[in-house]
Amino acid sequence: MKTVLLLGASGSIGSQTLDIIRDNPNDFKLVAFSVGNRHEKIDEILKNHQEVRSIYLIDEGKAIEYKAKYPHIKFYSGEKGLAKLTNNADYEMCVEALVGIAGLEPAVIALKRNKILCLANKEALVTGGHIINNLLKEGKGKLYPIDSEHVALAKCLKKVKPEEIDKLIITASGGALRNVPLDELDNKKASDALNHPTWKMGAKITIDCATMMNKGFEVIEAYYLFGYGLDKIEVLMHDESLVHSMVKTKDGRYIIDYGKPDMHNPIRYAMYEGKAFLDTIEVRDLNELKDCHFHKFDPKRYPCVLLAKDALKQKGLSLVALNASNEICVNAYLKDKISFLNISKTIARIMSKVDNNPNPSLEEVLNFDKYIRDLTKEMIK
Ligand SMILES: NC(=O)c1ccc[n+]([C@@H]2O[C@H](COP(=O)([O-])OP(=O)(O)OC[C@H]3O[C@@H](n4cnc5c(N)ncnc54)[C@H](OP(=O)(O)O)[C@@H]3O)[C@@H](O)[C@H]2O)c1
Repeated sequence: MKTVLLLGASGSIGSQTLDIIRDNPNDFKLVAFSVGNRHEKIDEILKNHQEVRSIYLIDEGKAIEYKAKYPHIKFYSGEKGLAKLTNNADYEMCVEALVGIAGLEPAVIALKRNKILCLANKEALVTGGHIINNLLKEGKGKLYPIDSEHVALAKCLKKVKPEEIDKLIITASGGALRNVPLDELDNKKASDALNHPTWKMGAKITIDCATMMNKGFEVIEAYYLFGYGLDKIEVLMHDESLVHSMVKTKDGRYIIDYGKPDMHNPIRYAMYEGKAFLDTIEVRDLNELKDCHFHKFDPKRYPCVLLAKDALKQKGLSLVALNASNEICVNAYLKDKISFLNISKTIARIMSKVDNNPNPSLEEVLNFDKYIRDLTKEMIK
């Protein structure tokens, strides 16, 4: 039985994590959680999880109201509240399903406290992969990714020796606008881009799928999680999202994680600390997978992947700038303040202004993140 702190309980990954905790009461007990603005989820969550003793929500006034209603629970709120919750609550496992850089500091705190960290928040690895890896090297905590592609790679990598590996192949659906002609892309609004063909997810990641910044982030995550360089990591388009990623061996075999797209599976895999539930399959030719279609990645359609790879070559503050400018641009696109193609163009302009430090501290990362956010907002204006 593991006691669990769930960060981002009101979101897409958060609510699927709640399903797993509810369905496996002998293995997991929810003792603390956070929501953001959707505080109305608190009552509903507490009905199913009565052992909760700590909660975070953004609004400080609402936190006082909830405290009056649930006096036995400690409530946190405000800017530093998430960090305080992660620092003070009593838990063994942190499932981190926040979106954006808000997830970095709690991830670092959970590891510093030697906890098991099941990490969905990819922005934490993108902006602080070097900090997280240093903590793991010092023997602090354990890390299990939740992203389906990285769970797939972790499963496939268990089946081969390092010297047998030719490539890690990360599959990509191409997002909601994948079939839109290039000259019509810029007219597409957020309502079009939010209509993902194979996955139902939060708004930010769904837009990141349409630009494929999400795939760029996944390349960065794979680098930090598995230690393979850009020459070993490939992106392959795959329409059906049935192959979650694969490893190609030097003798031409593909080790594949195959299954219907359902995030409960990778979340479960992480929460059970990498004990496989579904096995991998192996083929010599991808055409053997009759229900799957694969295509080459097109860098013209998806410049964000190249921006992400460039930032990874620079590391440090370049990755922070990539993430911060992307968060601001996606937000602006969701509010119809910039067009689709201006997302990648604005990020490229910001990246050209970065004076890099390849190994920043957490404080430097957070300060630089704020600076780039302001710069991007100015540029968009
Ligand atoms: N969804 C997927 O299938 C999927 C798959 C792979 C990886 N991921 C990654 O997992 C993470 C979560 O994705 P998601 O789709 O679950 O996102 P989501 O549905 O938007 O949920 C995000 C959660 O974070 C909370 N939050 C956002 N900003 C916050 C802040 N400043 N302070 C405190 N809480 C804040 C939200 O609270 P409120 O909503 O209450 O405001 C919500 O609980 C992302 O990094 C994403 O890239 C998601």
